Amino acid sequence: MGARIPGIILAAFLLCAAVSEIDAMGGRGVPQATPDKDARGLLHLVTVTDPYTRWKSLSGDKEFQAGTKPHGPFVVIYLNDAAFRSLGQGKEMARGSICVIENYNEEKVLTGFGVMHKVPGFNPDGGNWYWMRSTRDGKIEFFGRVEACIDCHRKAKTDFMFLGDKKGEGARN
Ligand code: HEC
Repeated sequence: MGARIPGIILAAFLLCAAVSEIDAMGGRGVPQATPDKDARGLLHLVTVTDPYTRWKSLSGDKEFQAGTKPHGPFVVIYLNDAAFRSLGQGKEMARGSICVIENYNEEKVLTGFGVMHKVPGFNPDGGNWYWMRSTRDGKIEFFGRVEACIDCHRKAKTDFMFLGDKKGEGARN
């Protein structure tokens, strides 16, 4: 459990490193739909402004649940209020919904996390989700309209979310 906290703190501190990383890559990914929905902004939002570790988790008491590739053998999934409220309705998640999946290895050490952020109009063919994947150190690896994420998440029953059909039952803050 303790392994999760350092990751987040590191993410916050290494934000600057992540920024230069992106610049160095020449903005890998895609153009942003809106200036405030960029990868750096999203990382900052979910780790500093409104840390996702304070959100509700689907897996009861924020415990590990079995994950699959590419997310790793163990995952913990967090939903902000907008996402949590939209759950189980079988329709598109509300504007501003954010979902974070922490990825853990076999030893239950955090390796990184994936983020889905609902940005109306961003990418209608992909559920208008803005995708982002960061290492535990806050190094942004993918962001924007990430085909790999979209292609696989397209198989989910509701709104590109594999867990979108689940009710919020059992979730606690
Ligand atoms: C090959 C399939 C596949 C790919 C590629 C993939 N995912 Fe997932 N994702 C899943 C599955 C399956 C789950 C449900 C949890 C699990 O089994 O690990 C999931 C869960 C999630 C969740 C929690 C919400 C939900 O849908 O249940 C987020 C957030 C997420 N993925 C982000 C990403 C991001 C960001 C990328 C790309 C960088 C990505 N995923 C790529 C299969 C995939």
